[in-house]
Amino acid sequence: MTTDAYSRIQLATSVLREHLDGRDPRTAFVLGTALGPFADAVTDAVSVPFDEVPHLRSPTAEGHAGRFVAGTVRGLPVLVMSGRLHPYEGWDLAEVTFPIRVMAAFGIELVVLTNAAGGVDPMLAAGDLMLIEDHLNLTGSNALIGPNDDRLGPRFPDMTNAWDQASRDTFNLAAAKLGLSIRSGVYAGVSGPNYETPAEVRMLRALGAHAVGMSTVHEAIVARHSGLRLAGISCITNAAAGEASSPLSHTEVIDTALRSAGAFQALLEGFCEKLAT
Ligand code: HPA
Repeated sequence: MTTDAYSRIQLATSVLREHLDGRDPRTAFVLGTALGPFADAVTDAVSVPFDEVPHLRSPTAEGHAGRFVAGTVRGLPVLVMSGRLHPYEGWDLAEVTFPIRVMAAFGIELVVLTNAAGGVDPMLAAGDLMLIEDHLNLTGSNALIGPNDDRLGPRFPDMTNAWDQASRDTFNLAAAKLGLSIRSGVYAGVSGPNYETPAEVRMLRALGAHAVGMSTVHEAIVARHSGLRLAGISCITNAAAGEASSPLSHTEVIDTALRSAGAFQALLEGFCEKLAT
């Protein structure tokens, strides 16, 4: 029997709620490539593999676990999504953004999207952390195409202040407290899975992008459509092609993300601490 998207979301949300056993977080984190270790910082944790939630797909990309972890980080109740779905794996955009729909239906109010990204701005070096202040959807597609269900959000969502200023302020305060220098910039979302040509990197720079990656923008659009507040951190894992002196590989991306994990984790924990107080 086929059901509509709304019913699928409601069912998945009620199953997730059962698994979370009374935990009622309002803040969620989506962990990008190799940024999964943050899930280990969650205390009093309950872990829910994606395949236990109806209609939720399991990621195939290396460096992505595929589970929700709910619990507490520095006093803040959180829901962490460890492992995400990318369109390049072959999922359609409704599948890629389904977890965001479930978060919204669950009662999440703020979602923090994280990712590994290439540095387009020459000022960004591998290992830098960048607060996402805005994005460019250059994937050529949009998860909201098709009939709009008004129960999920408006037909034409406004994106003027898509990336929440108050959350960026909180991240900056957390970084300052840690003595961590973080940057801020525009994330360009592309479909991948190939990395960019040098000409594409020049184009991205001309368009005003600071970083480029293959995730996040569809989740961001659906989060705003769903009325969630939105924040994001890119872990710059490499200079985008054309800037690099040697060819780029997924291994390099994962290795750098793992090396940045300490700073990334400290920043997210500091953010949670500030939100909890
Ligand atoms: N380009 C696109 N996506 C990426 C990159 C990149 O250079 N690095 C990590 N994800």
